Amino acid sequence: MIEKTLIVYYSRSGISEKVAQTLQAQLGCDMDKLEYAEKKHISFGAAVIEALRKSTAPITGGTHKPENYGRIIFITPVWGSGLATPIRSYMTEHKTAVQSYALIVTCGGGGLSGTIKDAAAILGKEPSASEQFRSSQVNEGHYGLEQFVQ
Ligand SMILES: Cc1cc2nc3c(=O)[nH]c(=O)nc-3n(C[C@H](O)[C@H](O)[C@H](O)COP(=O)(O)O)c2cc1C
Repeated sequence: MIEKTLIVYYSRSGISEKVAQTLQAQLGCDMDKLEYAEKKHISFGAAVIEALRKSTAPITGGTHKPENYGRIIFITPVWGSGLATPIRSYMTEHKTAVQSYALIVTCGGGGLSGTIKDAAAILGKEPSASEQFRSSQVNEGHYGLEQFVQ
């Protein structure tokens, strides 16, 4: 049986959003786009500081209830070899409601293992599936989502 899936993503500059929209079109599932509640945009410098501090922040956009889904697919940019703040904030807020999750990261060069570690430390479990795409791959359309479409 296909589990009910929710995609939860954050994207500062559109790369993770492209992956999220492609995956949603393939799965036809619900999707939440996270945003900072108190600002429209975050500067690169401020984002680096948040990433290094592993900060959380108030977020909006989490409109679906995670406890209603058997699988959540998180899509996040890599920030400082870890999660972007809005995804960290969502995971922290909803950690007891996340039953099973997969993790897709987009990055400049790498960072999947650090980001998995970050997520597992918050959620108390490893992702059932994970994948990393460099932003150049996403821009060129070279990203395969087969393992998440089942
Ligand atoms: C604050 C910040 C920190 C970043 N840290 C890393 C990093 O540690 N490793 C990496 O490969 N890319 C890093 N990047 C690059 C992004 O992960 C990459 O450009 C990503 O695809 C952007 O996704 P988005 O357009 O969805 O925001 C960082 C970008 C920002 C803004």
